Amino acid sequence: MSQAPSRETLDRLDTGVTELSAFHDGDRPGWTREVFSEPYRASRDWTAARMRDAGLEVHVDAAGNIVGRLPGTEQSAPALVTGSHTDTVDGGGRFDGIVGVLGSIEAARLLQESGTRLRRDLVVVDFLGEESNVFGLSCLGSRSAAQELTSADLDRRDYRGVTLGQAYADYGLEPSRLLDVPWAKRPLHAFVELHIEQGPTLEKRGLPLGVVTAITGIERFVATFAGAADHAGTTSMDDRRDAMVAAAEAVLAVRSEGCGAPTHGVATSTRVESESRSPNVVPSLVRMYSEVRSVDPAWLSGVKGRLTAEIAAKAAALGVDVGFEWSTDNAVVQAAPGVQDVAGAAVDALGLPWMPIPSGATHDAVHMADLAPMGMIFIPSKGGKSHCPEEWSSTADIATGVDALVGTLRRLDALDSRPS
Ligand code: GLV
Ligand code: MN
Ligand code: MN
Repeated sequence: MSQAPSRETLDRLDTGVTELSAFHDGDRPGWTREVFSEPYRASRDWTAARMRDAGLEVHVDAAGNIVGRLPGTEQSAPALVTGSHTDTVDGGGRFDGIVGVLGSIEAARLLQESGTRLRRDLVVVDFLGEESNVFGLSCLGSRSAAQELTSADLDRRDYRGVTLGQAYADYGLEPSRLLDVPWAKRPLHAFVELHIEQGPTLEKRGLPLGVVTAITGIERFVATFAGAADHAGTTSMDDRRDAMVAAAEAVLAVRSEGCGAPTHGVATSTRVESESRSPNVVPSLVRMYSEVRSVDPAWLSGVKGRLTAEIAAKAAALGVDVGFEWSTDNAVVQAAPGVQDVAGAAVDALGLPWMPIPSGATHDAVHMADLAPMGMIFIPSKGGKSHCPEEWSSTADIATGVDALVGTLRRLDALDSRPS
């Protein structure tokens, strides 16, 4: 049965959130700590020190992940891995990812304090740069661990023209060594990530915990609309080839696909940029950035084809050409049924109610699923809010998540073979 968390656990989680959130970019809204930024760099020494203080052997791997190891009794047994991320989106909050890193460190501490020695090494990871960044790529550290970061990825450019490879080098990481991650190359038994839900379901249902069933797939595109520059005062409405209007039609098309989606399908346009600076010129070149997400792969691939055709037809009717660059951030990933079962049993053993729940956000777990059976545990998010400064989960809820994580790790450790 669940026992009330100790005062020490609550204090450590609480001060952890407060101290980590002090590392943020004061020039940006919220608790911004973007990958490769100075606040991020500074925060990582704090995180490494926190891991050491919890009794972990710590190193930073060649991909920039902070890795803490709690040795098990059977050195040759496949390891258990847990962790999350400590970077935020621009204008983000204090809990997304952070709960999973602080929670894993606390879990490692509680295992030691209870005198439990796992058979398997427990590897706690703060993955480098999980949030989608100015290069349009998420999960940098877990992609490297899973050998999925490509040289084409390193050639991606941000809005200033800087490549991702250069950003790594400027941060002090050698781009040619990013896949040199020995801890991830050894056999792994399972990966479990504790995370905030980032949606309203658990809070609405009054449930303290969710066990993730699947993680959303994400398709992104940049559409470039090419019309014709003309005098905004003298060109009649019928004679225009207005790239901005074509982009506006496209924004609405994206929205209506999202509105027609089955449960857990969403579509968002995040940015529209015009090359025209003058207020009196019909816009001739406009770029629009959008993404579509779902845990249903069939809908996701269908919407890609439909949107391309619909946006192109609407643009053609306006005399505007359009080109698309589609990229898959990640495909839909199912959580391993065996890990879901173990996590559910661990929560049952605490005497707590829970529900199976899909994740509309992406996670490092997507890439870790290529290395080991993967599972995730969610705790409630106040008002379902996330990726904004108001993001909040109570310390008591985080402590409950840590309890569930500890129970899940113990049970996974006891399995002789990998969960299915
Ligand atoms: C990460 O939080 C994402 O879902 O974009
Ligand atoms: Mn996250
Ligand atoms: Mn996030």
